[in-house]
Amino acid sequence: MSDKKKVVSVPVQSINNVADEIFSITLQNQYIASHAHSGQFINVSVPQVNGILWRRPFGIHRTNADAGTFDIVFKVIGRGTKALKQTKTGDELDIIGPLGNHFSYPSDLKEAIMVAGGLGIAPFPLLIQDTKDKSIQHTLFYGAKSKDQFCSLDFFNTSVHDLHLTTEDGSIGEQGLITDSLERYLKGLNTMEGKYIYVCGPTPLLSRVKLLAHQYNIRAQVSVETIMACGFGACMGCPVPLEKPTEDGRKYLLACKDGPVFNMEDIIIDE
Ligand code: FES
Repeated sequence: MSDKKKVVSVPVQSINNVADEIFSITLQNQYIASHAHSGQFINVSVPQVNGILWRRPFGIHRTNADAGTFDIVFKVIGRGTKALKQTKTGDELDIIGPLGNHFSYPSDLKEAIMVAGGLGIAPFPLLIQDTKDKSIQHTLFYGAKSKDQFCSLDFFNTSVHDLHLTTEDGSIGEQGLITDSLERYLKGLNTMEGKYIYVCGPTPLLSRVKLLAHQYNIRAQVSVETIMACGFGACMGCPVPLEKPTEDGRKYLLACKDGPVFNMEDIIIDE
């Protein structure tokens, strides 16, 4: 680990309830605010809570280099996130980061087709920030169970050129799966030149996008949501199986150390 990845204590600037049981925390740290890229994450421990042994990884949602702040988003699903939800302005969180690799932007990139399911939306505001000087089209496919599960829609409404929303119950956008909407879009394109898919979300979504990317011959990068523990390669608890072994014979890479971003064609999406 570099010096910049030591444990640091960062102050909470604010915490907001942004959707149903989904919260956003703004944290102050100039280094992360200035250097993090889309796909990277921080590992957080919540010092106030006893009995939580492992740090929890949270993708960096967006940054504000001028203010020296960055945001994470999370859904309350267990003890760690319940504790995080109780965080207050001025509390200090013990974090390590930014960790992991990030999405890459080839020189011929003309359109970033982002595909997000649920909390898989986490890296995409930062992807838009990362590429804002590149004069590319930003197209976002964002699906959730219902209207109250979307976050950052105000941001996407103003920063994305082409926004496609779906919900399973039809409460906003089209009723159905976001991958069906993506397939119709890909079918209507004349060329895949300069177009890249960036995807994050649950495994069934990743699996479908992998098939579509293959079928329509479009390159795709994926940020995996594999469960992590240590966050930097020590526990071997986050294997990502490979389509072909590496040159040194490894059949798995580690989500935390080698990822969390991979070329879609390189990895097996295990359902
Ligand atoms: Fe421990 Fe990846 S989380 S090796």
